Amino acid sequence: MPIDDITQKVSERYAKAASTGEQMCCPTSYDMGHLKTFIPEAVLTISYGCGTPAGLKTVQVGETVLDIGSGGGIDCFEASRLVGSTGHVIGIDMTDTMLEIARKNAAVVATNLGYSASNVEFRKGLADAMPVQDGTIDLIISNCVINLAPDKRKVFQEMYRVAKPGGRFTISDIVSDQTVPQYLVHDAQKWGDCLSGALTLTDYMRGMTAAGFLGIHLVKSSPWRVIDGIHFFSVTLTGYKLPPAPTTSSVQYATLRGPFSRVVDERGTTYQRGIPQPINPDDELLLSAPPFAEHFLLAAEPVTFDSHDPRWTAVFPADAPCTWQGQYALLAGPFVEAADDDHHVYRRGEPLEICSKTVAVLESGRYQPHFVILNRAGDRVSGEAVTCAPNGGCC
Ligand SMILES: C[S@@+](CC[C@H](N)C(=O)[O-])C[C@H]1O[C@@H](n2cnc3c(N)ncnc32)[C@H](O)[C@@H]1O
Repeated sequence: MPIDDITQKVSERYAKAASTGEQMCCPTSYDMGHLKTFIPEAVLTISYGCGTPAGLKTVQVGETVLDIGSGGGIDCFEASRLVGSTGHVIGIDMTDTMLEIARKNAAVVATNLGYSASNVEFRKGLADAMPVQDGTIDLIISNCVINLAPDKRKVFQEMYRVAKPGGRFTISDIVSDQTVPQYLVHDAQKWGDCLSGALTLTDYMRGMTAAGFLGIHLVKSSPWRVIDGIHFFSVTLTGYKLPPAPTTSSVQYATLRGPFSRVVDERGTTYQRGIPQPINPDDELLLSAPPFAEHFLLAAEPVTFDSHDPRWTAVFPADAPCTWQGQYALLAGPFVEAADDDHHVYRRGEPLEICSKTVAVLESGRYQPHFVILNRAGDRVSGEAVTCAPNGGCC
């Protein structure tokens, strides 16, 4: 299907949904009771997202927020409340019917929030050529839209262009655990269902990194659909457009605390747990931001520590029977590669089959935020335990 056809068909699909109020798309976890107190029903009915990017404590008072593919405006209106009357929200959408509904309700929301004028504007435009000035946005949000755009590389570049230095994104979207085959890519109906255009998690995060964003990491994920063995799931990701670093800094070294035994960051630097690694001011900026900060000790002098030191963190598998239940782990940033204490090397977005003991490890505190765990087995699991390694490690 040519690119223009995809865009046209997706727009027609969402125009029809907006005018009929048809239910579409994916799992979200909005607090509808709360949203109903200030957002009209006409907007809430046509909420077609796959996450809650504005509702995750990411929006700050006074910020300028951009919502790519704003639809009926649900996330713009929640952002409007959160930025307060001093903030500003811009929604971009290509579909006129969506824009009409969103614009019509902006004044109602402003009144409900007690604002003298609406702080939200809706502009017509494409995600890969946004009518937004360079370097003007504090926070970019988007909810189940980028998968619908035929040229994601351009969308990621546009996001980087409009973000302020020091700006960030929090985006919910559908991704897949393997490359979507051509017979689905060329299925117009499934484009509109947020399936055909889904990138793998690896390609999604790589595309963001290639555009210039750093520190890309998982905030939330939930399963969506399985088609012909391909798992489609929603992820909410955050990443940063770092500001220029100060030219000098007292911090010269970073020591990885764990629980990973080794990690590789997006710039290709390897950190071994307990071993100080020389860093520059750019690295310091990144490593002092969440979610890196809790994993590193930053210091002016090299600091070395071992497993007896309370700063060292590790999680070992239990000494218990091991079963293979069909689970796969996908590392979802902020590192491109990471090793645990039991022979596994995880690469960003690539499914790695893991046994029940490793599931328990990765679901524990410090590992849990970094992984999506999928079950590819369906009901074909015997559940029989296999012999453990003599040292209690994984089978
Ligand atoms: C799945 S809906 C999500 C709408 C909204 N974010 C929400 O959560 O309800 C996708 C929206 O993105 C818009 N859209 C899809 N592709 C787009 C593109 N390439 N450029 C701009 N808007 C796009 C559609 O018109 C539609 O309103």
